[in-house]
Amino acid sequence: MKLVTAIVKPHRVEEVKEALQGVGVQGLTISEVRGFGRQRGHTEVYRGAEYQVEFVPKIRLEVLVAEAMVDEVIDAIVAAARSGQVGDGKVFVTSVERVVRIRTGEEDGEAL
Ligand SMILES: Nc1ncnc2c1ncn2[C@@H]1O[C@H](COP(=O)(O)OP(=O)(O)OP(=O)(O)O)[C@@H](O)[C@H]1O
Ligand SMILES: [Mg+2]
Repeated sequence: MKLVTAIVKPHRVEEVKEALQGVGVQGLTISEVRGFGRQRGHTEVYRGAEYQVEFVPKIRLEVLVAEAMVDEVIDAIVAAARSGQVGDGKVFVTSVERVVRIRTGEEDGEAL
């Protein structure tokens, strides 16, 4: 299994959720987070503010998927989250050793 994590703009979350449901994702988690990327939270650098860092509100979205689904899931997230402006976010993938559905005790692929 893989954990696909995406940091996206808050106003894109609904579209991302629908895109993920469209490729068969059954569950996901979101959290309200704050961060900054290369522009340090500024869309333009202005005098005296070059070293100032502003945290901008973002949504972190986490979805556990089978390895075979990863490419499709990334494509769905990127297509739904992209505005073309700075700050559109990041998607990254990590390996997951074990997943258990608490109610049934099912594991791994059966627990997704
Ligand atoms: N290297 C990083 N490590 C952890 N989180 C990051 C990193 N880069 C970006 N993020 C998170 O993603 C959010 C969006 O980043 P952002 O899209 O601005 O990245 P960027 O590399 O500056 O790309 P762009 O030039 O398109 O703006 C940030 O607010 C932060 O929460
Ligand atoms: Mg940026």
